[in-house]
Amino acid sequence: MLKTHSCGDLSKKDVGAEVTLAGWVDRRRDHGGLIFIDLRDREGLVQAVFNPDSSPDCHEIASRMRSEYVIKVSGEVALRPKGTENPKLPTGDIEVIVHSAEILNTSKTPPFYINEEVELEESLRLKYRYLDLRRARMRKNLLLRHRVIKFIRDFLDDKGFIEVETPILIKSTPEGARDYLVPSRVHAGKFYALPQSPQQLKQLLMVAGVEKYFQIARCFRDEDTRADRQPEFTQLDLEMSFVEEEDILGLMEELFTAMVETVRPESKIIKPFSRLSYAEAMERYGTDKPDLRFGLELKDLTDIAAQTEFAIFRSAIDQGGKVRGICIPGCGGYSRRQLDELNKLVQGLGAGGLVTIALGAGGGKLDALTIEEVKSVVAKFFTIDQVKQMGQRLEAEKGDLLLIVAGKPEIVDICLSELRQEMAKRLELADPNTFAFSFIIDFPLLSKNEETGLWEPMHHPFTAPREEDIPLLDSAPEKVRGRHYDLVCNGYEIAGGSIRIHTSGLQRKLFKLLGYSDEQVEERFGHLLKAFDYGAPPHGGIAAGIDRVVMLLAGEETIREVIAFPKNQNAADLTFDAPSPVSEEQLAELHLRLREER
Ligand code: AMO
Repeated sequence: MLKTHSCGDLSKKDVGAEVTLAGWVDRRRDHGGLIFIDLRDREGLVQAVFNPDSSPDCHEIASRMRSEYVIKVSGEVALRPKGTENPKLPTGDIEVIVHSAEILNTSKTPPFYINEEVELEESLRLKYRYLDLRRARMRKNLLLRHRVIKFIRDFLDDKGFIEVETPILIKSTPEGARDYLVPSRVHAGKFYALPQSPQQLKQLLMVAGVEKYFQIARCFRDEDTRADRQPEFTQLDLEMSFVEEEDILGLMEELFTAMVETVRPESKIIKPFSRLSYAEAMERYGTDKPDLRFGLELKDLTDIAAQTEFAIFRSAIDQGGKVRGICIPGCGGYSRRQLDELNKLVQGLGAGGLVTIALGAGGGKLDALTIEEVKSVVAKFFTIDQVKQMGQRLEAEKGDLLLIVAGKPEIVDICLSELRQEMAKRLELADPNTFAFSFIIDFPLLSKNEETGLWEPMHHPFTAPREEDIPLLDSAPEKVRGRHYDLVCNGYEIAGGSIRIHTSGLQRKLFKLLGYSDEQVEERFGHLLKAFDYGAPPHGGIAAGIDRVVMLLAGEETIREVIAFPKNQNAADLTFDAPSPVSEEQLAELHLRLREER
């Protein structure tokens, strides 16, 4: 090794020791006489001091050092002179008095500051990701990700799981997104698909008798990139034989509790994990991935709204829609501009508009509220009794703000759940140091695609229906409950899984219900159905999004911050400039010809 110690590891206990360090120049200060260099490596910073009197050669070398130069220094660890300690730096009590120095490599001036936490344009960061990753925050995130994955491996190994790798070049595995395809050179005109998840492979491993499998698996889905979605992401994929729902949920609760306690010991975790049925989550929060760190629950106002003179409410109800709302405590004084922002938010989500009703000023019960105190552009359509009824339903007090949306149930739910999130952010209601996990259970097995009229799986087609609901598959598929479960945390879906179908008869029946022809079933899933006929054990599993988990643990707002080389919003890799054109020869080998873009 070119170095004996890591910069960030040095402390008072090393005073007097002779050390050799290597790393990058984080900052250089030339005080006329002494030169100070903050030397940085993966573990942190330490101050190196170059004295022109005692080491003139070193001092001369240091005078040529610039930010991000790679250097090596040898010297003695010393206590900093009294009054010059830096309490902000973990090594702030000490410094290294350099007696030998070497420049190992120079550096151009970086396109952004590496030693300062400043807002930077993301495209610049992604283009120079190798420099971005030198920044303290990113180094911390990389380390956290490593710790999380190591924790998972150790935890599951202890529980008797074995890690099995599954192929990346495979056949399409339906998880609801578009596939990434890879053309075959050997088989002209044929394609591999990159796995959207190892779903069928882990089920085959259960048929193979593995019993307890896991994998840190890369998954590929050609879908729109978002803050919590990447075209290429990582799952903790897990499957067990001879299990029921409680076995998987119990294991997940133990895993995530221990993980948070290990990697974020200073944070709070709400125990035990709560459980919500899908219906209850939709009813109370308008989403199946609610943030449970705060209230602001949705309430139905349809019955009260139907009594009012307000045409928009009445026509929404006449068309089968509903009217729901939330109460925002203490925001009755919101300005026109603030209300307009909220209105824009719901319009962007497909609603006609937002009804806002400010309930006067001050606190206290609504009984004393007068119509003059009510502020709303549509106040004239409501009697004071109707306003009070709506307020009471929403458990409001004077001084609160009611946010009400009318329309199609799905749109109303989306708008109110987004408003709930937005207001919690504005009012800082969600403690960033708390993890509120919840299992969402009792999902319907199927949902109807309104455009095609076809049944679609709520999760994927391998989820088992509840035993007692199997007869309903023929008569009332909408009533069949699936053995599916999700794990949500702080407003994000972090895992999803199910007990699976393990007989070919039931699996075929489901495919038929989903509209697959016999030929399609054979072509796409023949391998799995055949395997089920050779003694497939009952089995179930789950997959957790590692990127989302690490994002939450790191307190970041996008998963791009916890992925070393993520794609940007346009699914492009800016460091490599991928995707990129390929040569005619490469295309010809793959039996491909490009069509002129029309
Ligand atoms: P599902 O599709 O719900 O289930 O995915 C499991 C978890 O993976 C994460 N995730 C993503 N993370 C980042 N970017 C994406 N594009 C992305 N898509 C999903 C989420 C999600 O909860 N085979 C099933 C699992 C099973 O049934 O065992 C599956 O993949 O955190």
